[in-house]
Amino acid sequence: MENRVFVFDTTLRDGEQSPGCSMNMEEKLRLARQLESLRVDVIEAGFPISSVGDFEAVQAIARQVRSCTIAGLARCVKADIDRAWEAIRETAKPRIHVFLATSDLHLKYKLKKTREQVLEEAVSAVRHAKSLAPEVEFSCEDASRTDIEYLCKVVEAAIEAGAAIINLPDTVGYAVPDEYGAMFKEVRRRVPNIGKAMLSSHCHNDLGLAVANSIAAIQNGVRQIECTVNGIGERAGNASLEEIVMAIKTRHELLGVTTNVNNEELIKTSRLLSSLTGMVVQRNKAIVGANAFAHEAGIHQDGILKSPITYEIMTPQSVGIKHTQLILGKHSGRHALKQRYAELGYQLSDAELQSAYQLFCAIADKKKEIFDDDLEAILETGTQTTEEEYQLVNLQITSGTNLRPTATVELRRNTETFVDSATGDGPVDASCRAIERMTGLNGKLTEYSIKAVHSGHDAIGEVFMRVEFDGLLYNGRAANTDVVAGSAQAYLEALNRAVASKKRKDLQKAETVVDRSAV
Ligand code: KIV
Ligand code: ZN
Repeated sequence: MENRVFVFDTTLRDGEQSPGCSMNMEEKLRLARQLESLRVDVIEAGFPISSVGDFEAVQAIARQVRSCTIAGLARCVKADIDRAWEAIRETAKPRIHVFLATSDLHLKYKLKKTREQVLEEAVSAVRHAKSLAPEVEFSCEDASRTDIEYLCKVVEAAIEAGAAIINLPDTVGYAVPDEYGAMFKEVRRRVPNIGKAMLSSHCHNDLGLAVANSIAAIQNGVRQIECTVNGIGERAGNASLEEIVMAIKTRHELLGVTTNVNNEELIKTSRLLSSLTGMVVQRNKAIVGANAFAHEAGIHQDGILKSPITYEIMTPQSVGIKHTQLILGKHSGRHALKQRYAELGYQLSDAELQSAYQLFCAIADKKKEIFDDDLEAILETGTQTTEEEYQLVNLQITSGTNLRPTATVELRRNTETFVDSATGDGPVDASCRAIERMTGLNGKLTEYSIKAVHSGHDAIGEVFMRVEFDGLLYNGRAANTDVVAGSAQAYLEALNRAVASKKRKDLQKAETVVDRSAV
């Protein structure tokens, strides 16, 4: 049996139709191009009959993406099939994907049709699709809850009518792995012409089993896996593409199959989808979550520093992340602390490390995460606080729908006062630029979030900013009912930390020079 598993991505169809995930045409095209770079085999670009927008997006993707098969979804209805074909006909590798429910439950309550009627409709739809497109896929919706004998009958007839790919979905995420795998085994055993088609799985995640079920399907002869980036999709989502791909790669010896996916593009694809839809990936999500390659526990950090394979089953680089992150928090040990100081350019003696570690533990008990500027403050001042070089005295904004946002900022440093104005892309940008003009320090904003502490118009906004100055990252936080003022305060806090850090380093250098000259 062929040991290549074909990856069928349905992010733009099953994923996009779920709440909070809709994308416009330009966004769909960007994602489709990224899916091409990821080297998925099939992109299900949409359901062309469902709306004019969907039709146009599928058509645009079909015209522009040449190296993947482009599939358009259709019910077993002539108008659907014609519309799907119209949308994909210009692509290099078109596929019409027709589906019809086969479980008695769906036949009785949804379709109100007999088994015979459904069988007939499936056959004539596949025949019609095959008269238009070179490749046809047929899906038995709710296959995992369909009577096996009837399922085999429909599968045999669909293949006979011209379907080259037979997809047997677990539409409602009800199956468990052994059961789902056994269904494919049985279909392969009972359907006489099964050798003429490729079997496909399509799993939903209602019980959190979508990836496990997909793997069970592969172990039972399935060679096409339908999945979505970040596992987005109806209700609890679809099987997650990145998890399946990395399971196949990491457990290659056990599973004995491969995909053509360029796994180093996984993070980029996941982040692009999140930024296009605003659907944030949970921190602890496998493969692409922020914590997937981060370690905080002291024992784990120590192990990772000795040899990454102690606690990492795949490298962060294999999914497109630059390096493992050792998060410094209350569970971290001396070893990780020493390592981080070394990365920041401080070589600590055992005594220095011991006293820094004591302070670190005291602060870590109060704070969730300890950042680089906290570490520097610990080292030099024995406290966690950074002195404020600049203070925000006043901020005035002019902004509007037809006005270029302008900020006038007043800062104080000791007894001096500075006032300057700047324009920007928005009021926050203008405020940061005005601050930069006065301090002469230019930062690059690498992270920015605003969280409402309560609901309502008068909610306090908690602003968090991570800003890069001279290649190092500094954090700023502020809470304010005015999010622009809060953002300016947070930016200034990060900038003050950068100034304090530079002062400490200059002082350390000067002391070294004095020491040497004394020798
Ligand atoms: O979940 C499902 O059954 C589907 C089919 C249309 C393939 O999405
Ligand atoms: Zn589905």
